[in-house]
Amino acid sequence: MHRLTNRQILLGITGGIAAYKSAELTRLLKKAGADVRVVMTPAATEFITPLTLQALSGHPVHLQLLDPEAEAGMGHIELARWADHILIAPASADFIARCAAGMGNDLLTTLCLASDAQISLAPAMNQAMWRDSHTQANIEALKSAGFNIWGPDAGEQACGDTGPGRMLEPTDLAERLAAEFDYLALSGKTVFITAGPTREPLDPVRFISNHSSGKMGYALAQAAVDAGAKVKLISGPVNLAPPERVECVQVETAEQMLAASMEGIETCDLFIGAAAVADYRPVAIAEHKIKKGNEEIMELRLVKNPDIIATVAKHIHRPFTVGFAAETRDVIHYARDKLTRKHLDLVIANDVSVPGIGFNSNENQVTLVTAEDAITLPQTSKRLLAKQLIDQIAQQLKTNNE
Ligand code: C5P
Repeated sequence: MHRLTNRQILLGITGGIAAYKSAELTRLLKKAGADVRVVMTPAATEFITPLTLQALSGHPVHLQLLDPEAEAGMGHIELARWADHILIAPASADFIARCAAGMGNDLLTTLCLASDAQISLAPAMNQAMWRDSHTQANIEALKSAGFNIWGPDAGEQACGDTGPGRMLEPTDLAERLAAEFDYLALSGKTVFITAGPTREPLDPVRFISNHSSGKMGYALAQAAVDAGAKVKLISGPVNLAPPERVECVQVETAEQMLAASMEGIETCDLFIGAAAVADYRPVAIAEHKIKKGNEEIMELRLVKNPDIIATVAKHIHRPFTVGFAAETRDVIHYARDKLTRKHLDLVIANDVSVPGIGFNSNENQVTLVTAEDAITLPQTSKRLLAKQLIDQIAQQLKTNNE
């Protein structure tokens, strides 16, 4: 069910006795890590209170199309864009009819019209209403329009009838919803990414650092989330806003970056070291600002920093480990050396002697180096490159797990 982690699910509830099961469905989706927003039709509120769904989803329930308060928060168009998937459970005969007719006469039908997300319906109604030729024609129309129709089940009904019309059980619906995200390359995977520089303090006002902008690591975090992963971004000080849905841990020094990287490493499937970690740090941090003296030369004593990625790659539950190699010559040779020395699965190598790519620029050109292969990707923006890299890494991860 990890495939639902981070997914944004809009749960629509329409009027029917099965609405009480939607409380359990909300709980299951939340437990699986999904972010759930609930929309209820007025009829649904006759069967279950919005307060119950608010408590379970952790967000106010959306009830009306033109509610000034709701529009001031997340308006209906924003809500339509926000959703990765719209699940309507239970979907009543009336809702199905309005949806099939392409109507937008309440919030839920409007959201279905306005959203590009996949829509799934879990019909629930009396067996005669389900069998009715109008309902059947509406269901066929919705299927041809690309809607998923999940259920209904047959059996005993709340009204005393027996036949088709029972809403599928919440566990079944949650499982079907999770399976909808299987196509994503990193669905259900946990990814840790280090990004940016580290800062190694000398005294309370000075530090040793480098020019890493963090752009590549942040773009990789965004691409990994888009590919369905749960992402922890461990970032040194940069001027970038963390991508949405990413857990961002801000650190300064290499030692802090190591601690944040090792925390929960046994849950990590893929580790990408995109940070430019300072190789050395001052032996001691002066308690007070170091004063200018008379001497012309000042010597600093430095001690080696831990190698974060090599430590990760040595862990007993080691994830698939991907490192970066910024080189100025013999790129592939040095990248392969890094691969063996640090026990990595893949090294993303780039030639930083070429102007306009790598450090602090918006474009990059890289070669993916494994023990057997070296694949060069064309020069492109870091954002597009990140997407290609995540696709390539996901493929290798899959082959590795087979
Ligand atoms: O040894 P070098 O710094 O060239 O290796 C680069 C790769 O190793 C990058 O993936 C970088 O994030 C990682 N690294 C690290 N910890 C260090 C130094 C480098 O994780 N102390």
